[in-house]
Amino acid sequence: MSKAVFLTNYPAGMPGPEHFETRDVDVPKPDEGEMLCRTVWMSVDPYMRGRMRPDVKSYIPPFSLDAPLEGGAVSEVVESNVPGFEAGDYIVDFLGGWKEFYISKGERTQKVDPNLAPLSSYLGVLGMPGMTAWAGVTQILKPQEGETLFVSGAAGAVGSVVCQLGKAKGARVVASAGSKEKCDWLVEEAGVDVALNYKDYKNANELTKALAEAAPKGVNCYFENVGGMHLEAALNCIALGGRMALCGMIAVYNNTEVEPGPPNLVNLIGRGVMARGFIVSEYMDKTMEFAAEVAPLLAQGKIKYQESVYEGIEKAPDAFVGLFKGENKGKAVVRVGPDRS
Ligand SMILES: NC(=O)c1ccc[n+]([C@@H]2O[C@H](COP(=O)([O-])OP(=O)(O)OC[C@H]3O[C@@H](n4cnc5c(N)ncnc54)[C@H](OP(=O)(O)O)[C@@H]3O)[C@@H](O)[C@H]2O)c1
Repeated sequence: MSKAVFLTNYPAGMPGPEHFETRDVDVPKPDEGEMLCRTVWMSVDPYMRGRMRPDVKSYIPPFSLDAPLEGGAVSEVVESNVPGFEAGDYIVDFLGGWKEFYISKGERTQKVDPNLAPLSSYLGVLGMPGMTAWAGVTQILKPQEGETLFVSGAAGAVGSVVCQLGKAKGARVVASAGSKEKCDWLVEEAGVDVALNYKDYKNANELTKALAEAAPKGVNCYFENVGGMHLEAALNCIALGGRMALCGMIAVYNNTEVEPGPPNLVNLIGRGVMARGFIVSEYMDKTMEFAAEVAPLLAQGKIKYQESVYEGIEKAPDAFVGLFKGENKGKAVVRVGPDRS
């Protein structure tokens, strides 16, 4: 027997432990063209909240209530009938999350080398969140030396890489995060120029004032992870010819009513702003470019990262819900099984 986490009902509003159940399931047997994999690390990500809305059409289908949840994971191949994979290989895929064992056909599966970087980092800085940060910065925002880059959700998995890529490109970086501890890390470790604790500001006007002081020449580039008052403040401070990479809006993911848009969208027009939404999968053909740029920066210590580690598959729901409460510092990961690499 092994364990897997199921969604028991679709949450309305903030998800909680009552929406999840860890159940005993059989360890499956691989047929021809299949391999048995053992999950070592799994990722919890904000996008999973979107998969818990069966009524909303999205780029990815909703989770079923009749099968274990799925998501990004680093796993060990236990037994393989798939050419190119053998027992003992480590892989990253989007199936292995929320379960201890599973069958894979090796599709959308990438082998990873545990000797190059810790296995869990392939779910964070060297994985999908790092790639998202890299795509938004290098393919959309393209910050120039001396320009100001504003990053919301700056201490998280994506935001912390955005900040450091921005610094590596010579930008002045203004970051926003939800605690003093996170802001201190951003200044002292990630090297941002100013970190704003958004919880010090009651509304968009107050945040706008603080952002205008931190970015006296205006915001040339905005990396959007949060939405709500952050977007409104960024639109107030955006410079002529500014660029916005719209990556996520976590502040609205648990809303039960539609969030009204910011009242100052008109600034996009007069200031000639380019606002571009994106999903990381658009840029998957550039994975090698991402790795070639980010892996050396990581090895040289020019990109630092934090992880919030939750121990055991039973903690996966807490890890997921914690994303919406700001509990994680950097990438939130769950250790599902022993790392024997
Ligand atoms: N477009 C894509 O392809 C793509 C890919 C990956 C991620 N994303 C998006 O990127 C964003 C960041 O993802 P991530 O994986 O890096 O998550 P993360 O930042 O590691 O974790 C989520 C963080 O969001 C902040 N947060 C939660 N609720 C908030 C609220 N109401 N207002 C302000 N901040 C709030 C919390 O930090 P604080 O303590 O600072 O509040 C929390 O730690 C999300 O919006 C996600 O959906 C998009």
